[in-house]
Amino acid sequence: MNLAGLPLGDRSLAKASGLEGVVVAETRLSHVDGERGELLIAGSRVEALALEDPGHFEAAVERLLELGAGEPQARVPEQLAQARVTAFARVAQLGRALSLPDAMDALLAATAQGCAGSDALAVLGALPVYVAAGARLRAGQSPIAPEPTRLSAQDFMSMLGLPEDAARARALDAYLVTVSDHGLNASTFAARVVASTGSDAMPCIVAGLAALKGPLHGGAPGPVLDMLDATASTEPRLWLERELLAGRRIMGMGHRIYRVRDPRAFVFERALARLEREDRQSSAIAARLAHAREVERVAEGLLSERHPDRPLRANVEFYTALLLEAVGIPRELFTATFAVGRCAGWLAHIAEQRRTGRLIRPAARYVGPMPD
Ligand code: COA
Repeated sequence: MNLAGLPLGDRSLAKASGLEGVVVAETRLSHVDGERGELLIAGSRVEALALEDPGHFEAAVERLLELGAGEPQARVPEQLAQARVTAFARVAQLGRALSLPDAMDALLAATAQGCAGSDALAVLGALPVYVAAGARLRAGQSPIAPEPTRLSAQDFMSMLGLPEDAARARALDAYLVTVSDHGLNASTFAARVVASTGSDAMPCIVAGLAALKGPLHGGAPGPVLDMLDATASTEPRLWLERELLAGRRIMGMGHRIYRVRDPRAFVFERALARLEREDRQSSAIAARLAHAREVERVAEGLLSERHPDRPLRANVEFYTALLLEAVGIPRELFTATFAVGRCAGWLAHIAEQRRTGRLIRPAARYVGPMPD
């Protein structure tokens, strides 16, 4: 797309200001087909990658990093486990960073402080440790040490103080794999821009975290759960109409690229259905899922009346909320848990960007005052 010469205020410039449809990089890491609703991560369909046996987050990390760096990665699961142990040893030195009231602010501050000078896998291993330790400290509890023989998903749950549960750990593993990468989304782009300046791993990841925090990107699943709570005891249509009339967006609906339902919503529905069969809280999961499907159906109808030319369907965050709730993750940690998975993609993109050796530096059209 050539942006030069567009009249100011032109609709296509407005779209372009969100860089919609603008290709700024080549990547081997993931492919998002918004028309067909398909997502490839590291050469595999997301459904296959996420719903196979547990332990696939480690495998997905390995494949993504290999593709990004263009060379084999040795002992990724062991390095990740060791990184958790090293990060935990630093928790006591992080001072007030982890106790900041907002989980994403705490993760940003702790990562900036605790991961200075760290390599890629050290940062990736540190994130779940800081998310869990921060949650415990904010609740007035002591942080729980990682157990390096466990896989990431299992160990994250254990550090949060959640009971040992193989089915829930498998569901969380599927979640982490599913969100591990997703094309050039806002946080990945932010991380790549910082990498293109020659910066090291930590500042790139802090940039990714900062972009992910916003409600239009990774901040939506907590509000999705609030919406499901609010509509549980009322007529969903009335509640949703009120939101739209007030000019608010329906969280968990719409996507910049997908024109059909987000394929990750299907993965999470299947992971939830599997959990429903195995979990001791299966009736609560089934009830939440049935209610969510109803809210999704009504929201989709209302949005299609308002935007007949722009299909606005459920996105990844809609069923993220249900899956993470079923696993036992508190809603204030949903975005930070998203970061634990997406950090894999950020690191792979950082490595890929570095190999280009090229600074990302777009241009703006000047419309400001001119000297007399
Ligand atoms: N609820 C209500 N209206 C919505 C909407 C939503 N969830 N998503 C988009 N719209 C509206 C926009 O306001 C816009 O209306 P307008 O043309 O009258 O201004 C129209 O639909 C087209 O929006 P679009 O260009 O598709 O949005 P985008 O590509 O800039 O934004 C999102 C994509 C994801 C930011 C947007 O859909 C959104 O805010 N969703 C809710 C937050 C969310 O779930 N985020 C997680 C994303 S994975």
